[in-house]
Amino acid sequence: MFFPPALAAVLLAQSALALTPVGHTASGRPMYVAPNGSRGVQVGNDLQLFAPNGTLLHTFADVVSGTSKRSSSTLARRGDVNFIEASTLLTRTDTLRAFNTSFVVPPLPATFDSQLLYLNAALLVSGGDSDVPFAEVRAVLQYGANALQGGSYWSIGTQLELIPDGGIVAIAPSRDFDPLVEPGTEIITSSTYHDVGDRFFRYLTQFPFIPGSPVLDFSFISPALGAVIGLETVGVLRDSDYPAGDVSFRQTNLTLESGAPEMRWNVSGAGTPSSGGPYLRVDVDGSTNAEFTVHF
Ligand SMILES: *[C@@H]1O[C@H](CO)[C@@H](O)[C@H](O)[C@H]1NC(C)=O
Ligand SMILES: *[C@@H]1O[C@H](CO)[C@@H](O)[C@H](O)[C@H]1NC(C)=O
Ligand SMILES: *[C@@H]1O[C@H](CO)[C@@H](O)[C@H](O)[C@H]1NC(C)=O
Ligand SMILES: *[C@@H]1O[C@H](CO)[C@@H](O)[C@H](O)[C@H]1NC(C)=O
Ligand SMILES: *[C@@H]1O[C@H](CO)[C@@H](O)[C@H](O)[C@H]1NC(C)=O
Repeated sequence: MFFPPALAAVLLAQSALALTPVGHTASGRPMYVAPNGSRGVQVGNDLQLFAPNGTLLHTFADVVSGTSKRSSSTLARRGDVNFIEASTLLTRTDTLRAFNTSFVVPPLPATFDSQLLYLNAALLVSGGDSDVPFAEVRAVLQYGANALQGGSYWSIGTQLELIPDGGIVAIAPSRDFDPLVEPGTEIITSSTYHDVGDRFFRYLTQFPFIPGSPVLDFSFISPALGAVIGLETVGVLRDSDYPAGDVSFRQTNLTLESGAPEMRWNVSGAGTPSSGGPYLRVDVDGSTNAEFTVHF
């Protein structure tokens, strides 16, 4: 087929640069998948995503949000996604070095109504000096299916979520890696800072004791703004769509450049012991061996 030169150039540019969403989340948010070993880099207000061989896969243009002031609502999220979480905001003069936690995979929910549950441990990042997070990098335990993986079982993954539009970049594991995890398995997640001698703050988010699991590798122009632990749900119809019992995040550590600071976690999102539905309690506060329990 003959294309006039200008159109051919446009088509070429698109095939070289555009990673199309592989699908949408249950709530209609675009989802992109990048191979393990891909790297993301913040360039001004854009996020660029590179394949393991260095090819630019995609530019998420203008995703770094502006300068509006921090408010408690900056941690609240989109309409049809329900969440409960404990979060902490960090001072920008101290670099977050490591954030890790441990939990046990809960039983399967008794019913599957195509609900999506994410238990996650995440870092919040903002652009420049802004205190408004534009992205969350996280290790997730997922029940239900998204465009990349899943079904009526628990599986693990790493994702970057763009907070303004809710788009998700998920890292595809290597071909021979099975992300399914059985109830009762202990899971450890970590996000660690890597100093590679440039001006970026590079964080690797992963499951350090699960060989072959997907590693999320993003570099930002500011150190992490905060840390979050919690539950996100889409499409839950009834109580039996949750697992029975509790999930406790234990041995949760936040290490900053200055060491382990005095700190407290704030709980936000729906749910109280009396209102029914899941709720989250901070059992042990602080930056070393903190504990949180999601009660279903
Ligand atoms: C680099 O990786 C991308 C994405 O996996 C692939 O499309 C491209 O062909 C690769 N390029 C080379 C030169 O290997
Ligand atoms: C908890 O929330 C309060 C009120 O929104 C805020 O002033 C405080 O900085 C938060 N604390 C942490 C550790 O994020
Ligand atoms: C958190 O720190 C404690 C004390 O240093 C350590 O025992 C625990 O293993 C750490 N947690 C994780 C998930 O590595
Ligand atoms: C996934 O990518 C990371 C680099 O980002 C690499 O260290 C790890 O070995 C990769 N895992 C597999 C199974 O290839
Ligand atoms: C968890 O964080 C602590 C404190 O930074 C560190 O000593 C430990 O090696 C980390 N463990 C994992 C599994 O990342």
